[in-house]
Amino acid sequence: MQDLKPSYIKTFAKDDLELSTKDLRVLYGGKVQKLFDASLQFKEHTITALIGASGSGKSTFLRSLNRMNDRVAKINGEIWFHGLDVNQPNINVYELRKNIGMVFQRPNPFPKSIRENIVYALKADGQNDKNELDRIVEESLRAAALWDEVKDKLDKSALALSGGQQQRLCIARALAVKPEVLLLDEPASALDPVSTSKLEDTLKQLRSRYTMIMVTHNMQQASRISDYTAFFHLGHVIEYNSTAEIFTNPKGKITEDYIQGSFG
Ligand SMILES: Nc1ncnc2c1ncn2[C@@H]1O[C@H](COP(=O)(O)OP(=O)(O)OP(=O)(O)O)[C@@H](O)[C@H]1O
Ligand SMILES: [Mg+2]
Repeated sequence: MQDLKPSYIKTFAKDDLELSTKDLRVLYGGKVQKLFDASLQFKEHTITALIGASGSGKSTFLRSLNRMNDRVAKINGEIWFHGLDVNQPNINVYELRKNIGMVFQRPNPFPKSIRENIVYALKADGQNDKNELDRIVEESLRAAALWDEVKDKLDKSALALSGGQQQRLCIARALAVKPEVLLLDEPASALDPVSTSKLEDTLKQLRSRYTMIMVTHNMQQASRISDYTAFFHLGHVIEYNSTAEIFTNPKGKITEDYIQGSFG
């Protein structure tokens, strides 16, 4: 039987925290437990990579943070977004997801124009000042490093963009509602190397203003862009530390084996 006790879990000063979980447990179908007592703290304006083999619980953890698992799973334990208790039943989940946005593995733009993709949520909220919406379109596309490529075709279909451009559009769409946190579940796995590199540059530029938590299977990617890394194994968080420490000086044997490519 493998020892699944954490070998090291980094913590931060309370004032530096953006988001944290305490003893987070997730059970699918009400009974099958797939995440065990995950206690992780995320520091403001950093990028944290979540790594681990397929099925280790990375997406389960990530999706719990903005209540995307509500319909399929039972969530126990605590999630704190600053002073807000995310698991409280009376939380406005729509508002929560404006603060904690999400970008998925497959780019999923709406079948609408580039512009409409970005202003969709704002219009739904009753914003209709055209100048202000135009300003947000430009600001969001610039932040997602897509403006120069699309500024002359804002009213063309988003589906005509390349996969990499679509993924950056999905980031721009998420940024338009002014989130503090971006959750990214393998955002580059469907992209070619050039698009991946552009996406990584984009995320690095966003780090000064946003807190990002990103699942990745790509160890080089984790070490290139993340500040901190959490290693998941069979639903347990085994080790959490600065990315440099995790990759050069892992404390746990399972972490070391995973990083060296012995499994997963
Ligand atoms: N909606 C669901 N209903 C039931 N079981 C689920 C559901 N989603 C995930 N699981 C199970 O929970 C476990 C963890 O899955 P999860 O998707 O979190 O893994 P992961 O680390 O993201 O894997 P991958 O790297 O393949 O994306 C797996 O055993 C999976 O089959
Ligand atoms: Mg996953």
